[in-house]
Amino acid sequence: MSMVHIVFWSGTGNTQRMAEAIAAGAAKAGAPVVVSPAAEARVETVLAAPVLALGCPSMGAEVLEESEMEPFVMALEAAGLRGKKLALFGSYDWGDGQWMREWQERMEKSGAIMVTDGLIANNTPDADALGLCAALGAKLAGA
Ligand SMILES: Cc1cc2nc3c(=O)[nH]c(=O)nc-3n(C[C@H](O)[C@H](O)[C@H](O)COP(=O)(O)O)c2cc1C
Repeated sequence: MSMVHIVFWSGTGNTQRMAEAIAAGAAKAGAPVVVSPAAEARVETVLAAPVLALGCPSMGAEVLEESEMEPFVMALEAAGLRGKKLALFGSYDWGDGQWMREWQERMEKSGAIMVTDGLIANNTPDADALGLCAALGAKLAGA
């Protein structure tokens, strides 16, 4: 099983719930899992894992959170993500997922291999959404 490192930013806990469900799914599948809030994540440590999941809600006007997550994502882009297996996730409210589509495009340009399309949940993830998160965790564990 591959080591999975999950980095997330969450203002009101919705994306954090998704991160925790993904972590639980990966751990249940037998993978070693590390979960880091973006403010505590170090690029070198994160890139040591072969499989990554990054989570951030839609903020601003369909952008990543700008003080912690965006700088972290820019640092990953500067380091390059060639060959890294990656999944993105996050919560949103009134939009249509534009922030996630644009984020995924950026990560693909940096060389990441997307394990799946970005997983989005409307506001607080319900049981169905948390089930999808757990399934994503299991998929990442076997990636
Ligand atoms: C400052 C701010 C900007 C936001 N901008 C968007 C947006 O552009 N599109 C959208 O769908 N939701 C937007 N939202 C809603 C959040 O994405 C939504 O509340 C989400 O569930 C927050 O996730 P969190 O609990 O992980 O912080 C915004 C929320 C805030 C506070």
